[in-house]
Amino acid sequence: MIYLRAASYTKFGEHYSKGLLDLADEAVAGVVKQGLNLKRIQALVVGNMFSQLLDKQSQLGAVLAQRWGLDIPAFRVEAACASGGVAVWTAIQLLKSRGYKDVLVVGVEKMTDYSTTDITTALSTAGNSDTDVVYQIPFPASYALYANYWLKKKWVGRETLFHIAAKNHYYASLNLQAQFPKEINKKIYQQGDVVAYPLGLFDCSPITDGAAAVWLSRSPTKNSPQLLGASLASGPNTPHLNYPLDGLPASRLAAEQLYQQTKINPQEINLVELHDCFTIAEAMAVVDLGLVAKKELGKFYTYYWQHRQPPPGYPYINTSGGLKACGHPIGATGVKQLAEVYYQLTGQAGRRQVKRVRTALTHNVGGSGGTVFLSLWRGGKDE
Ligand code: COA
Repeated sequence: MIYLRAASYTKFGEHYSKGLLDLADEAVAGVVKQGLNLKRIQALVVGNMFSQLLDKQSQLGAVLAQRWGLDIPAFRVEAACASGGVAVWTAIQLLKSRGYKDVLVVGVEKMTDYSTTDITTALSTAGNSDTDVVYQIPFPASYALYANYWLKKKWVGRETLFHIAAKNHYYASLNLQAQFPKEINKKIYQQGDVVAYPLGLFDCSPITDGAAAVWLSRSPTKNSPQLLGASLASGPNTPHLNYPLDGLPASRLAAEQLYQQTKINPQEINLVELHDCFTIAEAMAVVDLGLVAKKELGKFYTYYWQHRQPPPGYPYINTSGGLKACGHPIGATGVKQLAEVYYQLTGQAGRRQVKRVRTALTHNVGGSGGTVFLSLWRGGKDE
């Protein structure tokens, strides 16, 4: 068995006075505060996309391990926006098959020191270098293709995209660690500049600094959430390789494998932290993961927005504020999703705490679908 012993994430947003390593220190200090003695850790896995490209720092594993006085196996993994999730997956493999007992996973990214153009260009390397990079097809444009297709097919309406953004901003307003802890209304949503038609400012996740850390262990304490299963799949990493644009094949494949492995069906899941890098990405994810039927999307999100909670029998989605409003420091995101699940399953989510949450899912996507990591956790109490 594998357990989530402790988890933490920094405030997400702009950290002008802190560097990449300072942010990692802060996330790990949060886990140490919850009882981790770093000497107990046998391996360190770091999720990060840009340290080599932007911060001119490779070997992030060794650099951080030395900083914290550790001489254990330590390395960085990169899978674009799924770097954090793949770091968690790697830690799970070490715990399962290599006899490790305690592994620390850190996800970290420092983005706001660079211009939006620099970040956009760096992000496009997650697509295909001979198309996305050469023709500078940024992520918002990739997801705009999906959005246009889904709007044309009437699988979503503009209203649903607004409901997704507003719901995630509502949750962020309850989360002091979020980048945008403020609610939005329809007028604000509509006034956002067009980024890549039909996606506007409030359909997009932002550029963010932040770090997250989780301690995974084979020995639990009384309340440690338990891993039910995890899956990792690959798929087309750019929309022009993924016709028809009806979802992400890697999300569907990873979900099928996870549900088969755990014998859990999607209707038993109470809470999900999923990869809403754009509003349309959340709509696609809930369908790909079998949580909401395509034809129910409009009704589901209307109810969610009106009642500030999902319709009975459906899961809570992105209570952290999601990538949209909590922020998206690329390599930290997949680790932060676990941290949010940890807070919820151990009753530490403060004003956004969901009652009776037992089974929680994380969903982390790299590129426009190239990599998908899922993990399913059980914890909490019936009341
Ligand atoms: N949602 C809401 N507000 C946002 C925002 C977002 N996503 N991004 C920026 N803002 C706000 C800023 O806080 C700022 O507000 P202020 O004027 O009150 O201070 C204002 O909008 C302008 O910010 P700025 O940083 O100049 O925006 P920008 O136009 O340079 O960048 C985006 C906006 C959406 C283009 C940029 O955040 C982006 O490229 N996002 C996508 C990142 C991405 O592709 N990630 C990978 C996904 S898989």
